[in-house]
Amino acid sequence: MNLKDIRKNYSKATLSEKSLRDPFPLFEKWLEEAIEGKVNEPTAMMLSTVSEDCKPSSRIVLLKHLTEKGFHFFTNYNSRKGREITANRRVALLFFWPELEREVRIEGIATISSAELSDQYFRERPYESQISAMVSRQSETVESRNALEQLWKNLQISSKGEKLERPASWGGYFVLPESIEFWQGRPNRLHDRILFVRDEEVWIVSRLAP
Ligand SMILES: Cc1cc2nc3c(=O)[nH]c(=O)nc-3n(C[C@H](O)[C@H](O)[C@H](O)COP(=O)(O)O)c2cc1C
Repeated sequence: MNLKDIRKNYSKATLSEKSLRDPFPLFEKWLEEAIEGKVNEPTAMMLSTVSEDCKPSSRIVLLKHLTEKGFHFFTNYNSRKGREITANRRVALLFFWPELEREVRIEGIATISSAELSDQYFRERPYESQISAMVSRQSETVESRNALEQLWKNLQISSKGEKLERPASWGGYFVLPESIEFWQGRPNRLHDRILFVRDEEVWIVSRLAP
């Protein structure tokens, strides 16, 4: 396999730091463009966590709620990522929108979302997904696919279609960003990189070398 010859020139857009004061309007604009531009899984983001013994790990989660302060995703609190966040609240998020030649890198602090928000999102999920959230002890070893499906079926039968309560082990995390970097691919590898670093309530804007 010759990987060295796979090469793409980026030329779709440009990014200027002029008149940029706050990363959130820009993030929202880029997310909207990713959704409208039919990017595959536009809300998918890589979440990186670090374990107590300093081992990093990454996985994809979906951005489910965006505020003017930060980013919410939903998961199992006892999963590997959940345990790592408990040990170390510093996380990184990464969006890659290849169709737009864009990347957004976020570093910040994760905390548990409010119970109200988690309850609300749990209620909005399809019943079948609610059952999965209840029976899956995410990140633990399972005996077999059959055993997992049996657990799912048992709960589906015993719950008889009645309203399910959100399990305490499942809910949201909120990531409060300390820095957000926007990367726009440009010709000849001379890309645009605009970095926002939060200083209390103010964002410091700078341009980074590509
Ligand atoms: C497109 C995509 C979306 C995903 N969304 C989520 C999500 O929102 N929440 C979640 O817990 N896992 C999600 N996953 C699964 C995770 O990547 C991961 O397998 C799971 O959370 C267990 O990770 P952990 O063992 O590191 O905790 C998604 C995977 C993919 C590929």
